[in-house]
Amino acid sequence: MEVIIVADADAVGDVAARQIMATLRRRDTPTFGVATGSSPLPVYRALIGAYQHGVVSFTRTHMFLLDEYLGLPPDHPESYLNVIRTALAGHVDLPAGNLHGPDAAHPDVEHACAEYERVIAELGGIDVQLIGIGSDGHIGFNEPTSSLSSRTRIKTLTAQTRHDNARFFASPDEVPVHVITQGIGSILDAGHLVLVASGESKAASIARAVEGPLAAMFPASAIQLHRHATVVIDEAAAGQLTLADYYRDVYANKPAWQQ
Ligand code: GLP
Repeated sequence: MEVIIVADADAVGDVAARQIMATLRRRDTPTFGVATGSSPLPVYRALIGAYQHGVVSFTRTHMFLLDEYLGLPPDHPESYLNVIRTALAGHVDLPAGNLHGPDAAHPDVEHACAEYERVIAELGGIDVQLIGIGSDGHIGFNEPTSSLSSRTRIKTLTAQTRHDNARFFASPDEVPVHVITQGIGSILDAGHLVLVASGESKAASIARAVEGPLAAMFPASAIQLHRHATVVIDEAAAGQLTLADYYRDVYANKPAWQQ
């Protein structure tokens, strides 16, 4: 795992966007796993900036949502398909049909989950998956005790997560109870994982994900199992890492051919 510590949230966005673009460039028809929440927003701003400067194009890219709420009308601004359209897809040259999410309106949820995994596999799997981290350690919507080998499925949100996400809704009661999320096993199948976080409120979670024991009670610790995970965080989010100086040394002394 590579841990990159930068000054602030904007720098997290710039560095993570460069990591993502480098991986996307390697494939003719790249696939990019996109995440919601506040943490990825600086990444999306940096990608939009790169697109506007002609550095990157998404015409051959397919984007896949990490997760989706169940029970929201399709035109709801907080459905994750709409959130990603607003934050990224609607500002770049991604063809409309190339943004994919699980079919949350399908009457057979299990079928919708299996079908989503099938489409991802058909397009060659996810090349680079961007993830944030929830306050209880969730990735996607894999709440504590999620199987470390889980696949896309329905999950029930914890009271903590519904409380955390209430800020996006008119009232806490409006936050859906159920979601579809890629499983931890699905996430670990991605070729490259890029986890982003910023701010002091993420420091304890980042320390547990990067240095804590591997445990289903803290789903983000599963990134320790991945062969190519990059954690991009700001100084505040790095505040509780025991080996922060070591990660800085590793990054500063990276051989030129690896930069
Ligand atoms: C939601 C998303 C997660 C995200 C989390 C943290 O629950 N499903 O993918 O990581 O929010 O969001 P934030 O970055 O706003 O703290």
